[in-house]
Amino acid sequence: MAEPLFLTDLILALVLAIAGGLLGRRAGRSQAQPAPQQGEARRSPLVLYVTAAVVAARLAVAVLLLATSGWQLVTHRFLLGLPVVVLPLAWALLRRTAVAAHTTAMGAWLSFFFLYVPPGPQDLPVAAGASALVLATTIGASLLLGDRRSRGGRLARLPWLSGAAAMVTAAALGSLFLVSGSPTTDWGGGPERAGHSVHAMGHGHGAGASAMRSVDALTGPRDGTPDARFTLTAAHGAVRLSSGRAVDALTFNGTSPGPELRVTQGQLVEVTLVNKNVTEGVTLHWHGVDVPNAEDGVPGVTQNAVGPGGRHVYRFVPDRTGTYWYHTHRDAERSVERGLFGALIVEDGQQGVQHNVFTHLWPGGEDQIGAFGTTDSAERRAVPAGRQVVLRLINSSKEPHRILLGGTPFRVTAHDGNPIGEPGELKPGTDLLLAAGGRYDVAFTMPDGVVTLRLDTSEIPNEAALAFSPDGRAAPAALEQGDLFDRLSYGEPTGPEPEGGPYDRDFDLVLDNGFGFGFGGGSFTYTDTINGRLSPAVPTLMVREGDRVRMRITARGIIDHPMHLHGHRIRVISRNGEAVTGSTWWTDTLNVAPGESYEIDFSADNPGVWMDHCHNFEHAESGMVMHVAYDDVTTPYHGPAH
Ligand code: C2O
Ligand code: CU
Repeated sequence: MAEPLFLTDLILALVLAIAGGLLGRRAGRSQAQPAPQQGEARRSPLVLYVTAAVVAARLAVAVLLLATSGWQLVTHRFLLGLPVVVLPLAWALLRRTAVAAHTTAMGAWLSFFFLYVPPGPQDLPVAAGASALVLATTIGASLLLGDRRSRGGRLARLPWLSGAAAMVTAAALGSLFLVSGSPTTDWGGGPERAGHSVHAMGHGHGAGASAMRSVDALTGPRDGTPDARFTLTAAHGAVRLSSGRAVDALTFNGTSPGPELRVTQGQLVEVTLVNKNVTEGVTLHWHGVDVPNAEDGVPGVTQNAVGPGGRHVYRFVPDRTGTYWYHTHRDAERSVERGLFGALIVEDGQQGVQHNVFTHLWPGGEDQIGAFGTTDSAERRAVPAGRQVVLRLINSSKEPHRILLGGTPFRVTAHDGNPIGEPGELKPGTDLLLAAGGRYDVAFTMPDGVVTLRLDTSEIPNEAALAFSPDGRAAPAALEQGDLFDRLSYGEPTGPEPEGGPYDRDFDLVLDNGFGFGFGGGSFTYTDTINGRLSPAVPTLMVREGDRVRMRITARGIIDHPMHLHGHRIRVISRNGEAVTGSTWWTDTLNVAPGESYEIDFSADNPGVWMDHCHNFEHAESGMVMHVAYDDVTTPYHGPAH
């Protein structure tokens, strides 16, 4: 619902900018006439009515958005984007003067600007002040012009020119402010040193300057013999997909997905990363496992990327069971897509035939290739009837995937590694929407017939299918889209009651589409922003150990954003004001779709400087990256550029 409304509004705002321009032009002409005909400005002001109609349409869109998605979605429309044009327009409708018409024109342009370069919540007061200034300049210039109408037509442009000049100045000052910060070239590249250009959004307690800790000190156990030991060697290699296509890939130990690491909760795990020949560098991030900060594998924040010939040892003790995954965090947009990822399973006692099923998009020339792991065609597997089957679905791509499952009722037994309390049986043909980076464990009892799994990615047609049948011969069934699984009401709240408030910090994250300065401050493109900013200008969220933190994440743009906070498990409280009624919704990667507004909370119980970013690596690379930093932790790493 929200997405078409957003798009409609973008078009309406453009039409309004044009209509407003014509209105101002007309006012300028009539004002510049040596001897204005009586009532000229009063007669048949068609363009005024058109402008009013477009504004009315935009108001209707905003009200619809409010009704369907809630106040979070429309805050900046009602507080800023609409008032800047509605107020002057009301004036122009009441008093058909040239001054009012000029001001309406400028309001229409401001409104356009604020839709295409949306300010974050923290910038609303400044943006409102700047708008008032721009409108006042316009009024002043038109009044000045009013006395000089005999001078001829040229001055007719004065109000706009001065208003536009004020607007450009404000925008330039604003963007200067926005891109200030320490520029880096790599999105693994780090936050600004905590306490340096890191802006606190919370009410800071002010750290005692004495006890600052370095990220480097926050390691896993350094002593002791590991219970599980692995070596992962990253190297260039070819991956052959089931259709026969070969992908020029990056592999761990010669394969992609890399080897499954299966460990037990409480074990000391040691993984040695060796980079054979990946020039971009490699790290290992344990997605969803809340490891100590120094083991988190974020280049430029918790370590330097491991170059060719280098190695790095990670040691940590997994504290929860479930389905996790590992991937490189260096140049992730390309390197994960090309294959530097694998499954990390912390034994959870689920019984039966188990498969890790990655939903992946491989690079394939023009188009990406949708696949289950390396299965990009129909693959048949034998499972005896009556056996329990557990599919661990892991989305290693940058897009959310709709997964179709037909031929059997099933249960979703875990979400992002967290078991679901009393998972109810879902009817065959219930679709699962899996966030980029997210995981669902799906369980069913093998029937006599065929069970089919398909990947429904609207933009990327694909042939990937898995067919399970007792003799392993059955072809996969054709599947239609079905009802979407809704996590909000699924299962029962069985576990310990989640902690809730009172909260020490409250943060507001608004995800938008808009024009912004790209990485390195260079390009100006239509992109995805957090609170109107791009990294490294996105304010860091400062917390103190022990804080209870509440956050609201709202997607006002036209695209999904799977938000992933490192080092902490988050709990979803509500979506668009509707509370979670099913099993406690624990997650590490929350897909925030257009028009959705989630309230979440977490405990600041793992000190460090942590990434919080969109797991669509393309968005992350273009700046959808921020950090949650503890007020007593600093990082010595500063991105590869330093
Ligand atoms: Cu799975 Cu910061 O990543
Ligand atoms: Cu995104």
